[in-house]
Amino acid sequence: MSDLLPSALSVRENAHAPYSKFQVGAALRAKSGTVYVGCNVENVAYPEGTCAEAGAIAAMVAAGEREIVEICVVAGSPTPVPPCGGCRQKIAEFAAGDVPVVLATTSGVLEKTTVAALLPGAFDAGHMA
Ligand code: THU
Repeated sequence: MSDLLPSALSVRENAHAPYSKFQVGAALRAKSGTVYVGCNVENVAYPEGTCAEAGAIAAMVAAGEREIVEICVVAGSPTPVPPCGGCRQKIAEFAAGDVPVVLATTSGVLEKTTVAALLPGAFDAGHMA
């Protein structure tokens, strides 16, 4: 059990998902210890929607932080839903490879993985040197 789960579950309730009906919540702990949360925010122009992870990361960056030390994502799915490809890259921007990623369902199924396991061979700034 991640101690971020209650925050992720709580923010999930605020998700704006009238099109997919699939509400997602994310909570991350930044280096300072502060927890930032986000939920998916869909749009009638479908590609304009944003994922829960993106919202939590935006809140962290807006608060002046740049380093994730743990992240938890929860959805009302039968099995824990892994972050989409774009969110894996967004998480990797602010998290080391060994950072724990806890994926959860609202019914209590948990899966623990890491940033590196979710995005092997990630493109990073070193490739532009
Ligand atoms: N979604 C997230 O917010 N995070 C994920 O990790 C998977 C998918 C959202 C995007 C969209 O609003 C809905 O779930 C269905 O794809």
